[in-house]
Amino acid sequence: MKLGARSRVTAEDVIDGQTTAVVALDESLRVSVLNFAAEGIFEVSRRLTLGEALVDAIAHFAPHELRLRKALDTMTGFIERELKLARPGSSSITVDLIVTPFVVGKKPGLLMEMQPVDRHQRIARDGTLQTQFDASRELIRGLAHEIKNPLGGIRGAAQLMEHEFPDSQHREYTRVIIREVDRLQNLVNRMLGPNRAPQKALLNIHEVLEHVRRLVQAEAPPAVAVLRDYDPSIPEVVVDREQMIQAVLNVLRNALHAVDGHGSIILRTRTRRQLTVGGARHKLMVQIDIEDSGCGVPPDMIEKIFYPMVTTRADGTGLGLPLSQYLVHSHGGLIECRSRPGCTVFSIFLPIESA
Ligand SMILES: Nc1ncnc2c1ncn2[C@@H]1O[C@H](COP(=O)(O)OP(=O)(O)O)[C@@H](O)[C@H]1O
Ligand SMILES: [Mg+2]
Repeated sequence: MKLGARSRVTAEDVIDGQTTAVVALDESLRVSVLNFAAEGIFEVSRRLTLGEALVDAIAHFAPHELRLRKALDTMTGFIERELKLARPGSSSITVDLIVTPFVVGKKPGLLMEMQPVDRHQRIARDGTLQTQFDASRELIRGLAHEIKNPLGGIRGAAQLMEHEFPDSQHREYTRVIIREVDRLQNLVNRMLGPNRAPQKALLNIHEVLEHVRRLVQAEAPPAVAVLRDYDPSIPEVVVDREQMIQAVLNVLRNALHAVDGHGSIILRTRTRRQLTVGGARHKLMVQIDIEDSGCGVPPDMIEKIFYPMVTTRADGTGLGLPLSQYLVHSHGGLIECRSRPGCTVFSIFLPIESA
């Protein structure tokens, strides 16, 4: 929105500031208004489209001309979800379209509002992945419990032996047993994850992010910058602070490993409208991106990294991402990942409950 010399905000400023693509048509289906978002998604310029017939100006609408004409003639709007719009010679885009008729000065027109449904939204709609993660998590938890139970007994027996045979030679053996049992116990506890339900409270997500950012910046070598790009207007979210710190920390630490000593990491926040996650529709969600300039996740790994015990690091456990995914999921959200060499983005989506 351009402010400054002009102190009044015009209607044009407002529709240009919207993330929804807006196109208004006159009674002959010629473009009378086209906002900034519409220029972006249809790759057209306002200058060349205003006053032109819609189907000439934006070829994507050629197959829909009759339907729009009918909406205008009958003054009846319609809503079309996940409408695929294609232009010859370019890839298609998917939008949710709302068409509303209006009358200005006795002349009818149509208002078209379009919300792009990009890759993100479509993946976020897919609940089957989440079900698989949940199933593998249950398996790991069952296994972890089975391992955990005898560990206490082994440790206790080793301690008794230490008392029975206090000479240093036996002590060396019992120390090894106790140390390894403790290591295993530690691992198993991490496999089990938190055993409490989230204790949610209303808080500012940026406070959580700043906390994690400071922790990771302190661990990072000087050549790694952890930058931020926050949308300060994001409403407070209802989350368990400790669990959210853990969830973000795991992802951010991975980014730190990925940049391998030099590069940049960006923490970004944005709001997203009308997303469906695990079957639940959310009016508003916060999207937290953790982007790094590292070498990326190999394509054959990208489907697997949210499963437990999947790691490519020599000292990795493969438990970071599944735990983060579980924590975010128990908040009604989802984590997903896009990656190419030089740019990897993990996006954490969390619902913003309306007050
Ligand atoms: N930002 C990233 N860039 C590249 N690869 C990543 C990134 N984050 C995670 N990965 C991959 O996902 C794997 C699993 O991550 P995680 O579950 O945290 O386990 P760990 O960190 O112990 O390996 C990592 O070993 C790595 O191969
Ligand atoms: Mg990790």
